[in-house]
Amino acid sequence: MLVEKNVPLQFSNTFGIMAKALTLVRIASEKDVADTLADPALQAAPKFVLGGGSNIVITGDVRSLVLKVEIMGKRLVEETAKAWIVEAGAGENWHDLVTWTLQNGFPGLENLALIPGTVGGSPVQNIGAYGVELQDRFESLDAIDLSTGKAFTLNAAQCAFGYRDSVFKHVSTGPNGLGLAGKALITRVRFALPKAWKPVLGYADIEKKMAQTPNTVPDALQIYEWICEIRKAKLPDPKVIGNAGSFFKNPTVSPEQCADIIAREPKIVHYHLADGSVKLAAGWLIDACGWKGKTIGNAGVYDRQALVLVNKGGTQQPVTGGEVMTLAKAIQTSVYERFGILLEPEPVVV
Ligand code: EPU
Repeated sequence: MLVEKNVPLQFSNTFGIMAKALTLVRIASEKDVADTLADPALQAAPKFVLGGGSNIVITGDVRSLVLKVEIMGKRLVEETAKAWIVEAGAGENWHDLVTWTLQNGFPGLENLALIPGTVGGSPVQNIGAYGVELQDRFESLDAIDLSTGKAFTLNAAQCAFGYRDSVFKHVSTGPNGLGLAGKALITRVRFALPKAWKPVLGYADIEKKMAQTPNTVPDALQIYEWICEIRKAKLPDPKVIGNAGSFFKNPTVSPEQCADIIAREPKIVHYHLADGSVKLAAGWLIDACGWKGKTIGNAGVYDRQALVLVNKGGTQQPVTGGEVMTLAKAIQTSVYERFGILLEPEPVVV
């Protein structure tokens, strides 16, 4: 177990915000967690689990003990009649896992290509893109309770997945309350990749790609390539322009609320959901308020996708967490004043 002091975090968060971890432990195995929890100098400290840093806004030096998850490994662990079960260490890069599964002939994760972050972060916010969510391919995960040191396994139902949501984003309420936020470290995740694979194509951007090529029966690798092209055209590469993906969730409203908004704003982009509610495109709401390309300090709204906030200061004068949150609040206020909708941020503020 390696304990480090005053570790720069600028290259451990995809916004590129400059901050330090006062104390950081690299977790390369389950044993490193056990050793940390057995160490008298570390066991009582509040802990912060850091994966790829792709969904966080750091607002100052991190005083909690940072557990930087670097558990590696990708392997086929089981083959059932219906699926290949692939297991990956929580520290593996998400996109590398997607690529590896496809190279090895296990389709199913292609729509989730190029999402920044690590495997361990993927169930926390139930990552999703182009019609597929992590929960559609999830089998189970292993985690360690950070207060007791006990290892446990959760299936999909126990993870309580929702839209960009899971049990790992909630603090428990009451003695029987569910909620593992800040309480557990995910060590390994298993995915069920279907043998009876069917492409998921019902998304406007993919349909546009289909229309441009003669290939009407794309395989998983073809879809993977299309998704990579779509994302590269629309979303900033965090290695070039710091960002944390979509900064707000797409809000859901009742059909009545939606009808009211459409009456005022006929062009609003919205999708009807199976449960009768309506999802609004947060990017459209922000764009309609004129935010595209606007900046506050070194925080900016990406000029090709208003839902993405970016670091305009690069690595030399990087954006601060305070600037990102000031911009986020200004956007929330203007969207609320015009549409009566309070946008909910996606990233965790540290
Ligand atoms: N739109 C605008 N202006 C903008 C941005 C979007 O008018 O500046 C409109 C678009 O024209 C489109 C609609 O809003 O009609 C939706 O935009 P898009 O297809 O880009 O998807 P999104 O809803 O903004 C979501 C996810 C993304 C995911 C894409 C593709 C959320 C919060 N975001 O974005 O996920 O990649 O769909 O499936 O659900 C992430 O979570 O970090 C993320 C990038």
